Amino acid sequence: MERNLLLKYSQKYGTPIYIYDGNKIIARYNELYKYITWPKLKILYAMKANYNIGILKLLRTHKAYLDTVSPAEVFLALKLGFNKEDLLFTSNNITDDEMHEVKKTGVLFNIGALSSLEKFGAAYPGSKVCIRFNPDVYAGEHKHVQTAGSVTKFGVLLSEANQVYEISQKYKLKIVGLHEHTGSGIGETAKVYESMTNLLEIANPKLFPDLEFVDFGGGFKVSYDRQTKKINYSNFGKKISSIFSKFCKVYGKELYMYFEPGKYVVAESGYLVIEVNTLKNNRGRLIAGTNSGFNHLIRPLLYGSFHHIENLSNPTGKFYDYDICGNLCETGDCFAEQRSIREIRESDKLVIKNAGAYCYSMGSIYNLRAMPSELLVMNGTEKLITKKPTNEELAQSIFSSSKHQ
Ligand SMILES: Cc1ncc(COP(=O)(O)O)c(C=O)c1O
Repeated sequence: MERNLLLKYSQKYGTPIYIYDGNKIIARYNELYKYITWPKLKILYAMKANYNIGILKLLRTHKAYLDTVSPAEVFLALKLGFNKEDLLFTSNNITDDEMHEVKKTGVLFNIGALSSLEKFGAAYPGSKVCIRFNPDVYAGEHKHVQTAGSVTKFGVLLSEANQVYEISQKYKLKIVGLHEHTGSGIGETAKVYESMTNLLEIANPKLFPDLEFVDFGGGFKVSYDRQTKKINYSNFGKKISSIFSKFCKVYGKELYMYFEPGKYVVAESGYLVIEVNTLKNNRGRLIAGTNSGFNHLIRPLLYGSFHHIENLSNPTGKFYDYDICGNLCETGDCFAEQRSIREIRESDKLVIKNAGAYCYSMGSIYNLRAMPSELLVMNGTEKLITKKPTNEELAQSIFSSSKHQ
């Protein structure tokens, strides 16, 4: 989004504010259908990346499918008008009560542990189900987002496929889907091909005669900095379609191929605009203090992630190195350290880019600092989706929700 627009919206609605470009979200979602040439394809947006209801409604009107990971995500999606058939519920360490409340909705479960499958089968014999396997490939841009291999809580081991079969026989479960998710921000396409191949090796009609789809998770990489090589998703799409086509011939049926991208769909559409209120020179180290913090955007602190930051208010100023810090009472509360940015003055507005995925959705009110407003812009028309509460309103809401006033 252009600098002038970011400035205009942040002046009108105040800072800190998340601004999302709806056209970009839809373009990213649709382009995956162009890249991946397999005709029976479903792209399930992983709503954990950003559950903003304006974005979800927009995706719904463009016929998107969703991957959900908690009962509340399922309920929110249904409230917004998604059909139960358009959702997959990838459960992970859920309680029995949660299993029952989601099962009532009729959404398909994706189960990633033998003991959970056993419980599910005993409670709901004869049901359809999808099984999440651990594809045994390490990939992803940080160890916290690698979700396969020996150090992960996710998925059934490939070597346990026979046990899955036995449980399914015992409870007459119909296994309609197999699933794997290797990690987030996968830079090496070879790793994706390897994961796919590992999963497809066990997907034989003897063990899994009722398959309707195979789901290869998310992990499509977004280049957060200019150095990271962009993946040629057109070549990638052709290659995976060819792997899948060969598999389907052996399996004896043309199955659906699913993917569940979160980051790829929304990351680049998001901008967090913040304002500098304090400048400091700590023995030569320039520090710009802002009205935001890691409670609004935790990726740099949690994953060491790089996000481009620009001074919207001084586009022609000289470059200096700054620590860009927040307003939380924590030393780690920095978006960037010694980053070269055009001269910053107090009251300047800065934009943090690529802030659409795993930013607002991972936010909190730590230090009792309210979450920012969220604005969705589509075809030049803006809509305020979430309004930042005032400090007084935030305090009141904590006070009112307590039973001990
Ligand atoms: C099961 C599952 N599917 C999809 C995703 C989305 O991944 P990404 O945002 O990297 O595409 C995740 C994220 O970790 C996930 O755990």
